[in-house]
Amino acid sequence: MIGVALLGYGVVGSGVADLLRQNAAHIARKAGQDIELRYILDIRDLSDTPYAGLAVKDFALIENDPAVRVVAECIGGVGVARDFIRRSLLAGKHVVTSNKELVAAHGAELLALAEARNLNFLFEASVGGGIPVLRPIAQCLAANRLSEVTGILNGTTNYILTRMFRQGVSFDEALAEARARGYAEADPSDDILGRDSCRKICILASLAFGKHIYPEQVETEGITALSGGDVAFAQAHGYRVKLLGRALRGENAPAIWVAPHLVSEDHPLAGVYDVFNGIWISGDAIGDVMFYGRGAGKLPTASAMVADIIDAVKHLSARKWVGWQPSEGGAPLPPKDLASAWYARFPDPADSLITPILTETEYAAWAEGQDIKPTYRIRVL
Ligand code: HSE
Repeated sequence: MIGVALLGYGVVGSGVADLLRQNAAHIARKAGQDIELRYILDIRDLSDTPYAGLAVKDFALIENDPAVRVVAECIGGVGVARDFIRRSLLAGKHVVTSNKELVAAHGAELLALAEARNLNFLFEASVGGGIPVLRPIAQCLAANRLSEVTGILNGTTNYILTRMFRQGVSFDEALAEARARGYAEADPSDDILGRDSCRKICILASLAFGKHIYPEQVETEGITALSGGDVAFAQAHGYRVKLLGRALRGENAPAIWVAPHLVSEDHPLAGVYDVFNGIWISGDAIGDVMFYGRGAGKLPTASAMVADIIDAVKHLSARKWVGWQPSEGGAPLPPKDLASAWYARFPDPADSLITPILTETEYAAWAEGQDIKPTYRIRVL
């Protein structure tokens, strides 16, 4: 019997508790032993939940209980969550988390702390919700030198774009639906301004290229400047509009950014709608591979968290390697020199067009040279 403590009983945390209970016998078989959920730490009152008897508010109870071997963190943010994870590792407990903000900002530090104590620090649920993608990068694709990771990484914005532009729902209504379905962040501007996608592409790029990439290094643009006219233009010309996180290895430094893109309808990412995410990876042996599934929501994300708990239980002494090396951070990694076609929006939509292949600097010079200047531009994938 292995004791687990859950930190946070929000959308994902409640899913983890429910899944551990609902599939207990199956999970025990997979883990090789019974898993006992011993505590749920939350500042809220859990007396109306099936877990009232497990509720605690003092982290020290968990920290000091030797029967707790695995701590599953679903609080989110970089405040108390970071403190509790550090303390869990210092107390010799394996840690599993869905906290992309924390992993993107402090992953290298927490990985080093875990490694020094021969403990697991696993975070499959931090990217792509229920989609298995971090372990496949670290293990199944380990023989490859990866050159590219491009993904639709945020379920909320993909849901909003789908509802608005395929089903005619307003932005506010689509966002309200995404919140009601448990897809959105506590602060949904993290979703719509691209910050959540930024954190996820940082995690993917760190894993794919082996050094920590920090969110401050990544140029990030969300979906708020998109108009119905942009989407109509895209559709009429054989494209879909998708918010992408992209990481390209490059010859000297990687190029990493988040922005809406026009994606050709022939590309598999163009067919990723609703809350689904898609992650496209290129490697020198595998060629191209794509991962697809539900990128947000209670049970899909809990599915990845519980799989990490099972993996931690199966590797209590021989740790799993899913990680990367520290880096200095520093210079931004924008795609300045990367040439692509661009959609240029003009005040009169009839003038909007797709340019020839240009770098960002060349595009700026081209736009400056127009008699009537374009008011917005989107890179074409
Ligand atoms: N708000 C996130 C999303 C949750 O919509 O993708 C999953 O990380």
